Amino acid sequence: MLIAQHDKTRAQIRDLVAKHGCQRNALIPILQDIRDKNGQISDFAMQTVAAQLGIEPSEVYGVVTFYSFLSEKPRGRFVIRLCRTISCDMAGKEEVARQLENDLGICFGETTRDGRFSLEWANCMGVCDQGPALLVNERLYTRVTPEKVSEILDSIQCPA
Ligand code: FES
Repeated sequence: MLIAQHDKTRAQIRDLVAKHGCQRNALIPILQDIRDKNGQISDFAMQTVAAQLGIEPSEVYGVVTFYSFLSEKPRGRFVIRLCRTISCDMAGKEEVARQLENDLGICFGETTRDGRFSLEWANCMGVCDQGPALLVNERLYTRVTPEKVSEILDSIQCPA
């Protein structure tokens, strides 16, 4: 079972290296594709990518853990990321954070039991004059208030 899974991972990464190339600058696109296809980047996938690109596994691990958009853990169908950088902090991100935790019943870094939502911190999203800024998967919300949080959660198409 594990061997078959590893074979599948190796084949997937071979295809991604063929698509993105084997240079160092292919690392992030390859990791993004692995995350998109599998919902996570396993230790084995990181080791395989490192071997294919001729870099140290610790470098791949460092990239995965540095960028909040990449993950070594399984995530929910909807990943909610709240900007924690200074402008959004000053614009009231803490109140929005508490409301998100309250409404979802999880803390930052966690995923709801039904696998629908993950809650994460993110760094500056480039809309500092419109904070607090929030991303739900690829969709950006700006000037988020605690009152807007349930409106945003309700608007997410989330069939059971
Ligand atoms: S500080 Fe939050 S978007 Fe820049």
